Amino acid sequence: MEVIIVKTGEQVGKVAADIIATGMLRKPDFVLGLATGSTPLKTYTELVRKHKEGGLDFSKTTTFNLDEYLGLPMTHPQSYYYFMWENLFKHVNINPENIHVPSGQILDCEGFCEAYENEIVDAGGIDLQLLGIGRDGHIAFNEPGSSLYSRTRLKTLTKETVEDNARVFDDPDEVPRFAVTMGVGTVIDARRIVLIANGTGKAQAIFDAVEGPVSSQCTASALQLHPKTTVIVDEGAASKLERREYYDWIRDNKRQIHDIIEKQIRKRLRLEHKDWG
Ligand code: F6R
Repeated sequence: MEVIIVKTGEQVGKVAADIIATGMLRKPDFVLGLATGSTPLKTYTELVRKHKEGGLDFSKTTTFNLDEYLGLPMTHPQSYYYFMWENLFKHVNINPENIHVPSGQILDCEGFCEAYENEIVDAGGIDLQLLGIGRDGHIAFNEPGSSLYSRTRLKTLTKETVEDNARVFDDPDEVPRFAVTMGVGTVIDARRIVLIANGTGKAQAIFDAVEGPVSSQCTASALQLHPKTTVIVDEGAASKLERREYYDWIRDNKRQIHDIIEKQIRKRLRLEHKDWG
C-alpha cells in the first residue's frame, strides 16, 4: 500500500486525477470505477478540466459506480446517478452507453446484482477503482461486519452513515437506509485502487484502514491485501497515522529511483558501445 500525504484536499483531488488520467492515456478503453460523496468532487473537477483544456478523451472509457441508494430514481437530485451526471458525465465526451451506475429502483435485487457483476467481468474488469472512505471505515457501502469476500448486493446503512448522508437531504426522514453496493470482493478485484480522504473526521478511519489489523470491522482494511493500492490523504486525514515518517521517507527516496535506473541504462549503453568497437 502506497500512502501519499499532501497538504490540502485540493491536492488530493489533483493527485488522484493525475493517476486516473495517466491510466486513461495508456489505455483508451480504460474501465474506471467511480465513487460519489463529497471527497471525489475535486477529482472530478480536475478530470473535467483535463478534458476541456488538455483533451483528455473519455470516448472509449467505461465506468462502473460503486453504489446507489435503494428507492431513489435516477432523476432524484440526491441519487448517485444524478450526482455523477452533474459532476462528471455531462462535462466530458463519455458515451452514455458505457456508463454503469447501480439502479436504485430494482425489482429483482439478486438478479440485478448478479448482472452488475457480470457486466464488470464482460468489460474486462475494472482497471482503476476510485474510493472514498466512511467515518466507520466503509468502502462503497460495505459497513462494518461486511464480508471481505462480499459481492454486489443490498446493504443496510449504519445510523452513522445515514447521519453523515443527511447533510445533503432537505428532510432527514428522506435519507435512504439501504443501498445497492459493490462488495469488498468486487472492489478488490480491480487492478488498481486509489482511496482518497480529507479532513480530521476521516483520520481514525484512515488509521484503521492503513495501520490497523485487516478486519471486517473496517472494510477499507481489506485494501492491505490488494497488490496495488494508493491512499492519498491530506494532513487532516493523515493526522493519526503512526508511520508518517516512513511514508515521507519513501516519498523522498523514491525520487532517486529514476536517477538510479537512468544511470544504469547509461552504463549499459556505454558497455554496448565498447563491444561494438
Ligand atoms: C459513495 C461511497 C461511500 C463514500 C463515503 C465517504 O459512492 O462509496 O463509501 O465514499 O461514504 O463519503 P464522503 O466523501 O461524502 O465523506
